[in-house]
Amino acid sequence: MGNVFVCEHPLIQHKLTYIRDKQTNTKDFRELVDEVATLMAYELTRDVPLETVEVQTPVGPAEGRLISGRMLGLVPILRAGLGMTDGILKLIPAAKVGHIGLYRDPATLQPVEYYLNLPTDAASRMLIVIDPMLATGGSANAALAALKQRGCKQLKLMCLIAAPEGIAAVQQAHPEVDIHVAAVDERLNEHGYIVPGLGDAGDRMYGTN
Ligand code: URA
Repeated sequence: MGNVFVCEHPLIQHKLTYIRDKQTNTKDFRELVDEVATLMAYELTRDVPLETVEVQTPVGPAEGRLISGRMLGLVPILRAGLGMTDGILKLIPAAKVGHIGLYRDPATLQPVEYYLNLPTDAASRMLIVIDPMLATGGSANAALAALKQRGCKQLKLMCLIAAPEGIAAVQQAHPEVDIHVAAVDERLNEHGYIVPGLGDAGDRMYGTN
């Protein structure tokens, strides 16, 4: 079963409080999400494998460690996932970025993929699927399934806030996927919003509603 990691770091929790605050304006919201994404990327990459290498310092040879094998890939779910992507790239600039777009079919209420563009070597990378809000889990599950269909095996999910319902749905459909969140909130309301959450992440990020 994939683990749920709640990033309890004080800086993340401090910034998340301002992100939640409805008084926070669009510019500050975007900046704070970007900063939290950077901090979460630091936590999420704790277990990436290292290999030993030798470097020459000005004084002599030294044993160093570098991240081994292929680097990471990021797959933001459009559109709100974009708001966390640059923050992660600040720490992992060599990561390649794919994109996935999903809409909800009004008849079936199921997510439908309308756009997918992945790096050609996606299947050999560890991919971080990014969506700030893990609500019902429908989009995250569809994105993870789409990536698995294309041969991607090493998958992690990064969200700002999760509802227990979303976590349960992802754990059921993709039990091997680790989920990294800054907070797990109480529940979903009847409109599918996370309570207390932060409202609509995409709208708050881009000033739409
Ligand atoms: N998507 C959002 O942006 N906010 C929620 O609370 C749930 C889904």
